[in-house]
Amino acid sequence: MENLDLNRLPKHIAIIMDGNGRWAQEQGQDRLFGHYQGVVSVRKVVEAAAEIGIKYLTLYAFSTENWDRPVEEVTGLMTLFVETIAKEVPDLNKNNIQLQFIGDLSQLPPEARIALDQSTAQTAANTGLKLIIALSYSSRWEIVNAAQVLAKLVQVGDLNPEQINEKVFSENLTTKGIPDPELMIRTSGEYRISNFLLFQLAYSELYFTNTRWPDFRKPHLIEAILDYQSRERRFGKTSAQIVLDEENK
Ligand code: FPP
Repeated sequence: MENLDLNRLPKHIAIIMDGNGRWAQEQGQDRLFGHYQGVVSVRKVVEAAAEIGIKYLTLYAFSTENWDRPVEEVTGLMTLFVETIAKEVPDLNKNNIQLQFIGDLSQLPPEARIALDQSTAQTAANTGLKLIIALSYSSRWEIVNAAQVLAKLVQVGDLNPEQINEKVFSENLTTKGIPDPELMIRTSGEYRISNFLLFQLAYSELYFTNTRWPDFRKPHLIEAILDYQSRERRFGKTSAQIVLDEENK
């Protein structure tokens, strides 16, 4: 932790929490056991992110494609989400953490949606870490959705096609108002983005680790941030330009 440069922390970290199923199966357990252990990692990582001073943390909890998993796993995961989140609200409030969900929540069972809406409302006044849970989320869904919204505005004459730029487009994504992640972490040795924040990750640094999500803890998060801090972010410019930009700051 003492090696971290607190002046160069990523404001926003996004994580694909992968490997729960394999972690459980490797120990002869049911896949759901891995998801339950994954919640322990969520708690530890949220706590660590808040302590380090990260402003936004987005966790990919359930993709649109995950609805196609065996029904017992889907039902088990939904129960786990709703129960965990309701149980964590007092701790989130104690730690000034604001909760937000992104994704197609209309696909969730109504009682789950109500519970998630409640926990969002109960933490809405918090001003510390913003914890964003991507649930029933897929980036292509989000992008197509934004295109439809903008097309309808053009159709009724409220928007000219020329007015559509990156800013307008991003304001119609579920992450409206949230800065793009500077760092994206994926656990469990898979090197894919899997339909996660495709627009928002355009210039993010990507960090892949073999550690399975249920084993991921604060030291792993710090390692990822240190790796991020060792990189030069050029945004399409040359290295010399970046050095000059830094000097002129
Ligand atoms: C991916 O591992 C993980 C999931 C689909 C679920 C992630 C959910 C949690 C960690 C619980 C989070 C809880 C809250 C409250 C946000 P996988 O099942 O794809 O693992 P595998 O690739 O090894 O099969």
